[in-house]
This record gives sequence, C-alpha cells and structure tokens, in this order.
Amino acid sequence: MYYSDDILDQVRSANDIVDVIGQDVKLKRAGSSYVGLCPFHNEKTPSFSVSRQKQMYYCFGCHRGGNVITYIEEYNNMGFLEAVQYLAERAGITLPQSSISPEEKKSMSERTQLLEVNRLAGTYYYYSLRSAAGKSGMDYLRGRGLTDETMKAFALGYAPKTPSDGLYRYMKSKGISDDLLRRSGLMNVDQKRGTMYDKFWNRVIFPILDTSNKIIGFGGRVMGDAKPKYLNSPETKIFDKSRNLYALNLARRTREDYLILCEGYMDVISMHQAGFTNAVASLGTSLTPGHCALLARYTKKVVLSYDSDSAGVAAAMRAIPMLRRAQITPRILRLDPYKDPDEMIQALGHDAVKERLEKAQNALMFEIEITKRDYDLSDPEAKTRFFESVASRIAVLETQMERQNYIDAVCRDYLVDRKQLQELVTRRLVAGPSSRSGDEYESGHAARPAEQEEPSLDPAYDPAVLYGYDEGGFYEDEATGEMYQAPPSASRKNRTATVREQGDDISRKLLLNYICRYPSVYETVKKYVQPADFGGGLLTRAAEEIYAQMERSGRVEEASVLSHFTDTQDQAQIAGIFHTLDQAASGKDREKAVRETLLKVFAASDAGSGTDLQQVIQRKKLEAELRSLKLNL
Ligand code: GTP
Ligand code: MN
Repeated sequence: MYYSDDILDQVRSANDIVDVIGQDVKLKRAGSSYVGLCPFHNEKTPSFSVSRQKQMYYCFGCHRGGNVITYIEEYNNMGFLEAVQYLAERAGITLPQSSISPEEKKSMSERTQLLEVNRLAGTYYYYSLRSAAGKSGMDYLRGRGLTDETMKAFALGYAPKTPSDGLYRYMKSKGISDDLLRRSGLMNVDQKRGTMYDKFWNRVIFPILDTSNKIIGFGGRVMGDAKPKYLNSPETKIFDKSRNLYALNLARRTREDYLILCEGYMDVISMHQAGFTNAVASLGTSLTPGHCALLARYTKKVVLSYDSDSAGVAAAMRAIPMLRRAQITPRILRLDPYKDPDEMIQALGHDAVKERLEKAQNALMFEIEITKRDYDLSDPEAKTRFFESVASRIAVLETQMERQNYIDAVCRDYLVDRKQLQELVTRRLVAGPSSRSGDEYESGHAARPAEQEEPSLDPAYDPAVLYGYDEGGFYEDEATGEMYQAPPSASRKNRTATVREQGDDISRKLLLNYICRYPSVYETVKKYVQPADFGGGLLTRAAEEIYAQMERSGRVEEASVLSHFTDTQDQAQIAGIFHTLDQAASGKDREKAVRETLLKVFAASDAGSGTDLQQVIQRKKLEAELRSLKLNL
C-alpha cells in the first residue's frame, strides 16, 4: 500500500515541523531557524536545528535529519505508513480508507487513541450543552455574556448532572475499553471496586486544544460558588500543562505582534469575544519556562493581564523575569479597579480596553512600583534603600539611552532628584556587574527568593551556548540568520584519495545548498555542471531533483526534494545538504564562495573533459571563465 504524492504533500504541509518537533523538544529561535537539544542523542549543548522555512530538521551532532515524516518515524519508532497516518490524524486529514489495514489500526499509538477518546468526549459535552439536558449550562454561560458564536469558537460544552455516568456510557457505546478510559483522565476510578465514574459532572466544560486543534484535556467549572471552582484533566501522555497554553490554537493566527497572557479561561474567552483574539492563558498552573519557550515561538512581546489581586501581582512579578529569559519583552495591562480582564471587558467594552492595551505598562516600571510597596517611604532610610534598589534595576540595562529613559521616568513618577538617582546608577555601573546583581537581591522584595529558586539559567537561553561560540563550532550566517557549522578546514583536504573524495562531496553539497539558497546562481551553475557531475550517487540523484525543480518553478522546496528518498539514511544525507552552510556572510564573500565551490565541483567532474585536444582546450577555457565569473549575489 502507498499514498500518492498529493496526499503526502497535503499531510506534510498540514503539519508544521516546528510545531510537531516543538511538542517533544524545547526549541529556541536562532535566526531564521530553531535549535534545541537533539532528541536522538545525548548532548548538553544544542546542535539540533529545525527550519520552518525548509520544513526540515538536522542534527549537527549525530547527523540525523529529514522532514516531518522522517522525524515522526524516528522519534516514535514508527514505520513510514504509520508516521503518515499519525500526522494525518494530527492534522485532521482523512486518508483514503482502504489504505488502513486492521493491523495498522491496532498499532495506532497511545497518543492517537487518547486523542480519539478526547474527541469523543468533546463531542459528547458539546452536544449536551446544546440539548435540553444542557439548559443550566447554557443559562450559566449566557448569563456570563457569552454569545453562541463564542461558545462555538471555544467548543464549550457541558457535563450533565444526570445521568451521572453519561460519558462512561457514551464511551462504551463507541467501543472504548475501560483500560483506555482509565488512562484518559476523564474518569475517577474507585480503587476498591475498580469501577469508574465520570470525572466531570454538572459543570460547564472548556476543552483545551493544542496548536493543531486537537483536544488534549478539559477544564470544568461549577456553575455557582461551589468548590473546587475548576476541575482540570490530569496530565496524561497527551496533556502536558507546562507545554501548552489555552487558546493558543486561535491566538497564533493573530495579526498583532504581541500575545496577551491571562490567568483564567474565562478571561481569555471574554478577550476574544471583545475582539482581542491574541489572548492566551496557562492551564490552571503558574507560568513555566516551557510556556515561555512556547510563547517565544510566536512572539517577542507579551502583555501580562493577570488578576489585580495580590496573587495576580505576585504571579506577574514571577512571570516577568521568566519571560525576559525567553527573550520576550513583557508589559503589564492595568486592570484596576477591576479584578480580572473578564470583569474589565464587561465594564469598559472594547475601545477602552484597547486603549489600556496600547498603554500597557513597561515591566520594569511595574516592578519598581510593586517593589515600592515593600518600603515605607516616609522613613528616610527605607526611602534610600528603595532608590538603591531602583538604581540597581536600572544599572543592569544595556544602553545608556535606556538607562536615561528610565531615570527620567522614575524621576517623573516618584519625584526624586534626578542628579541623585543618576549618581546611584553610575556608582553601580562603576562597581561592575557582580555587585550590581548583589544589590538587587538585597532589596528584600518578597518575590526575590522565589525567583532565585527557579531553575538556574537554562543553557538553551544562553546565547553563547546557543550559538556554540566555544563548543560545537556553530556560527550564525549574518545575512540569512541561519545556523551553520564550519566545514572541515581546507588544509586537511587532498591528502589521500578518500579525503579528496570527501572534499569533493562537501563542495558538491555546498553547491547544491547554494542553488537552494540563492536560486539566481542556478542559471550560471547549470552552464558548467550537470547533475551527472555530482559524483553519480546520492548527490547526483539529489541534483537531478533540484535541477528539475529549478526548471519547473525557479525555486527549490527542500522538503519535497527529501521526499524522493525513502531510506532514512539517505534522507539524513540529503537533509545534510541543506544544512551544509559555509561562512560566507557578506555579499562579496558569498560570491567568492559560490564561485570557488563551483570551480571545485567543475574540476572534480568529467564535464567537458576528454583526450581530444579540442576538448582539453574547451575545458581550460571554461575553467578560466569560471575564475572570473560574475554572479551578482
Ligand atoms: P471565573 O471565576 O469563572 O471568571 O474564572 P476565571 O477563569 O477567571 O478563574 P480564576 O481567575 O479564579 O482562576 C484562574 C485559573 O486558575 C482558572 O481559569 C483555572 O485554570 C485555574 N483555577 C481556578 N480555580 C481553580 C480550582 O479550584 N482548581 C483548579 N485546579 N484550578 C483552578
Ligand atoms: Mn474571572
């Protein structure tokens, strides 16, 4: 059995590789691609690179690579067909039915089965809310101002009061086993008797979807003041609360350049209903570095919209440094006098909230304001300590301009003498960074110890480690922002025939890489070397496909080149082509690099060679031409 290229294309393009791999690997943006710790070998510094543009991954450490299907095959230990089915399922694509045999169905992964159970449960809750039995749920949600459209967009549902085993019975009618139900987190299990009860009962239901719109868990709210207010699905194989955000499936499509981070489901829903479709929330847990990494994949700016009570403020104080570490600039939405975003929207409506969003407070000013609460400013000594802590916060800023701006702002808001604050900051600058951060911890703010307890700086967030300046030999191409590893130095070449062959292959890979990256060189390249000149093996086959694509469309789609190779070893080799990057950063260096590479490939080929004097002269002529070639890169 096999699937047509059309279907495979459809499955591939519906599963963004960064999203798919991001579920298993913590990815960090590095230029135009993403890097993380390779899931296929043990490593401490990230050498695993994923490109959204190319829809490919490649590990510089273990040299595994491929497209999204290869990844699923390797990561989940699946066969090709199973991987395709998994990805089709993930994206909601129906594969031609006849092509799935009962055996293959049986081997559907645990993940797929749990997703199916959740899908069934979501359906059950959804229709319950819209049936006669769902009236109280419907009344409750309408009472909170939600429109039918909003309820639909969030797939809201209801777990009826009666029958209290409604979901269990529904699952049985669909042939779902007790064993699977037990693992789904949807049932409470009576350990003694081994019987099961619906976990959610007489609650409105908030399905939690991942970014590919699959239900991974549920939240259920009581319709009054009973406790606990919310029940959430426990973590399961498919539900990792610290790696998913509520409504990110919707918010990721926003055209705004920032995301709004709220505390509660209802806050998010209210925001969306009012037109702020870039709102998300964590899943009944506090913010984790995992959430921040996830956010960082979609935006560099987050507006924190936590509740205005002391718990909300403390949560914001913890979230700010965590977001900064993920290279996100946080700002704070002022809610007062309202308790949460939901209440604010109901009271103020869209326009006023929009204005507040635009004026969202700079996180540093927020931190300073909150810190102030710990000091009694009528006590001169406490006042001095407060301004010292402010100066410490300002002194860590990188540029003079930033520091001046904050000094100005603080003087304006707190009526301090500019010269005094300036001097405090300068003293800290002179004292150097170690004493600066020391001062900060002495400030005695309540949030500090908690911050120190957080996992110490994640190596993935350290740019030096990330770009491997010292280890691994990674560099970032300034022009494209891509990560690359320097190829073996040229001096090692030409020692033996094998080394030379390897060198030839490196040049060949590099040339193919150039064609993909700078399609304008193709017209020139093809005058001198043909696919046959790429060594006759795998690289020639790759060249054939790349040349064919260039002829067809003037550009190369890497993932589709890759799909012409079924063997995973071959795929890794081909993926290596697209990741064999050189160091030529500036336009002129790049031109030189392309020219020299072309010359090397030409020299290693039989192109235009022969014993015939005419041919020898012709080859010499071409070589000379190549040496002074203009490429206009
Ligand atoms: P409303 O009170 O209906 O407006 O909901 P809310 O979303 O504003 O809730 P709230 O601000 O009280 O809490 C924020 C989030 O914390 C909720 O959306 C839940 O995810 C979570 N949460 C709140 N209460 C509970 C609880 O009792 N148990 C659990 N597990 N989570 C809760
Ligand atoms: Mn609320």
